[in-house]
Amino acid sequence: MRLAFFVWSIVDLAAVVSAKWNTTKFLFAFGDSYTTDGFNISAGVDSPVPGFTSSNGPNWVQFLGGTYNITDTKVFNLASGGATIDAALVAPFQPTVLSIVDQVEQFHQILAPKPSGAQWSGNNSLFAIWIGINDVGNSFGRSDIKSQTQFHATLMKRLFGQVDTLYQDGARQFLFLTVPPTNRAPLILVQGPKVAASITSALADYNQQLVANIKAFEAKHRGVITTIFDTRPIFNTLLDMSATFGFVNQTGFCDAYQNGTPDTNTEIPPCAPVSSYFWLNSLHPLFTVHNILAKAIATKLSL
Ligand SMILES: *[C@@H]1O[C@H](CO)[C@@H](O)[C@H](O)[C@H]1NC(C)=O
Ligand SMILES: *[C@@H]1O[C@H](CO)[C@@H](O)[C@H](O)[C@H]1NC(C)=O
Ligand SMILES: *[C@@H]1O[C@H](CO)[C@@H](O)[C@H](O)[C@H]1NC(C)=O
Ligand SMILES: *[C@@H]1O[C@H](CO)[C@@H](O)[C@H](O)[C@H]1NC(C)=O
Ligand SMILES: *[C@@H]1O[C@H](CO)[C@@H](O)[C@H](O)[C@H]1NC(C)=O
Repeated sequence: MRLAFFVWSIVDLAAVVSAKWNTTKFLFAFGDSYTTDGFNISAGVDSPVPGFTSSNGPNWVQFLGGTYNITDTKVFNLASGGATIDAALVAPFQPTVLSIVDQVEQFHQILAPKPSGAQWSGNNSLFAIWIGINDVGNSFGRSDIKSQTQFHATLMKRLFGQVDTLYQDGARQFLFLTVPPTNRAPLILVQGPKVAASITSALADYNQQLVANIKAFEAKHRGVITTIFDTRPIFNTLLDMSATFGFVNQTGFCDAYQNGTPDTNTEIPPCAPVSSYFWLNSLHPLFTVHNILAKAIATKLSL
């Protein structure tokens, strides 16, 4: 009996951690400018995807759902450029930005009832959440925040309250991305080493709390599968070895390209072609970086 129980436990565990990417029919994405493609669910479940990204080409969700998909995965991207977890905790750059709280509310209202065109179920859907870039970026220097650690704990409570809502709506499979090393973005570098050091420690604390909260969420809910994708090694490797990977500049961008270019390989001398940069502008990496990220994510989801 004991042995049978033990074997059953292993089988059960194997089922819980097994590959699911090849059976993912629906991908729901939540996040900020790194994730949005301009899709507006309020305009209709079947409204067109404008493809407005921050990467001068496809972004990681588009590569994941449309290039590294191994089945016909339908993507619903609810992300909003500039998003924070909750606008009341960290104000976004514009009041019209939809926070994670807003995005989850949209999911709850429009997609949780499983309308025609989005008849998903918990066992064939992946919920991808990449948030925190703006939460950390817009809060690490705030003088009214006495303890960064406590503030991040408040953010986590709010974020995982939203994740709980998704769970109650039937979500079972989750993908979380850590906040990338934005301390290496031109936006921060130009502010000098003190500011860079300050955001570096804030990012480390945020990501550490994020991982701990994901594990606690998974432990609390039986049948939940979570994948944590750490974006930091990819960003750091590409930046550390930028010449090897063919990026012409690891610290800066070309002014002429920062608002996007007509083509993915536009060249405006004296800059190299836009596709050879890592950073399109002060905060956003190019589609080439998103492509590599998506490939690694697809692999991790298939292990
Ligand atoms: C998905 O991948 C798993 C693990 O590699 C495999 O066991 C399973 O048969 C695959 N399912 C489909 C539908 O291809
Ligand atoms: C999304 O669509 C709704 C309904 O058509 C509209 O009111 C809203 O302004 C749109 N949002 C954006 C950001 O375009
Ligand atoms: C992957 O997605 C693309 C774009 O939606 C689709 O054309 C393609 O058929 C999908 N691949 C598979 C293997 O289903
Ligand atoms: C997936 O969930 C649906 C709806 O709850 C259910 O009908 C189906 O049997 C499940 N499939 C698997 C493989 O568990
Ligand atoms: C890289 O960007 C930095 C910061 O903008 C700039 O100072 C430097 O000249 C650039 N290097 C090259 C090779 O373009």
